[in-house]
Amino acid sequence: MINIVLCGGSGSRLWPLSRKLYPKQFYEFFQGESLFEKTLKRNSKLCSKTIIVTNSEQYDLALNQINNIDIQNNSFILEPIGRNTTAAVTLACLTLEEDDIVLVTPSDHLIMNEEEYSRVLNKAETLARKGYLVTFGIKPDSPDTNYGYIEACGNDALSFKEKPDEKTAWMYLEKGNYYWNSGMFVFKVGAFIDELKIYASHIHKLADEALKNAKTHKPLRIELEDMLQIPSISLDYSIMEKSKKLKVIPSDIGWADLGSFEVLYENLKQDKDSNCILSDGVILENSYNNLIISKDRTIAAIDVDNLIVVDTEDALLISEKGRSYKVKEIIDKLKLHK
Ligand code: GDD
Ligand code: MG
Repeated sequence: MINIVLCGGSGSRLWPLSRKLYPKQFYEFFQGESLFEKTLKRNSKLCSKTIIVTNSEQYDLALNQINNIDIQNNSFILEPIGRNTTAAVTLACLTLEEDDIVLVTPSDHLIMNEEEYSRVLNKAETLARKGYLVTFGIKPDSPDTNYGYIEACGNDALSFKEKPDEKTAWMYLEKGNYYWNSGMFVFKVGAFIDELKIYASHIHKLADEALKNAKTHKPLRIELEDMLQIPSISLDYSIMEKSKKLKVIPSDIGWADLGSFEVLYENLKQDKDSNCILSDGVILENSYNNLIISKDRTIAAIDVDNLIVVDTEDALLISEKGRSYKVKEIIDKLKLHK
């Protein structure tokens, strides 16, 4: 199997920590390792080769982190701007052979149960060899609208709905046979290209063109004018919602998409007062259940509970825990002020 690592999002729900130039997957929060490093290490045990598709601005950062871990046989495709996951996956697939089986993974997820992970990947590989596009279903515990939902009957995926509205998500949750899409996929390159030709043939053509025009090959750099031609749409909307070749493997792999400060808090080590502190200079008095992240400054807090405090060089976020999803509104306001 060949691992395609998608590493292009900016993780805006983790503002002000995660930025365009320093997205969340590069923070070394987990016993000194980043989610990007953990992803590469985990998958290189099961895959013979790694292709990292990322923004050219993040190349140095990614290279530096690869040097911290011991993975061989990796290559890069550099995008001058992101055009979402259909473009990224298509570019990578078009550099491979039709019979190659690929494992597409995000670079910003946690997977705690690696034994089970390896088991479900084996099963996925078998289904992918038969020409199916295989997804991994995570049992939902809330009507979260940030995920895709897969309707399942055994391993058959009856339908796929990307980011439904809240009412629909509640309905799915109540029905019981819907899973969250994990954002990872396994398929044969040829099977994917066939689906692409049916549902997004223009993206196939434009990506093929972009690869032919690339002037630098190690790393493979896509030209800006070619990238701009490719429509920006995620794989979930372009192919997964439409394909009739989907399979799903319900997966109990200790999966977490660290998409918010609340999920980050749940997955990091907490102290005896249930505070999670990512900084050396934090002094707390009678304060509990807080997440506090700071780089250089001393942070002190008195009699506060359930807060998220994220201090960076040029911005400070303070939010009640459970409300940080509203950071979207802050970003919109910031854009208006620019
Ligand atoms: N190279 C590259 N270029 N990577 C990209 C780009 C791009 O333009 N855009 C996004 N990515 C990467 C992100 O860095 C992330 O690793 C992955 O592709 C998925 O993109 P997200 O933007 O994080 O998608 P999402 O979280 O909204 O939704 C996806 O993941 C959910 C699970 O976490 C979907 O697949 C959902 O269906 C799924 O439930
Ligand atoms: Mg995501």
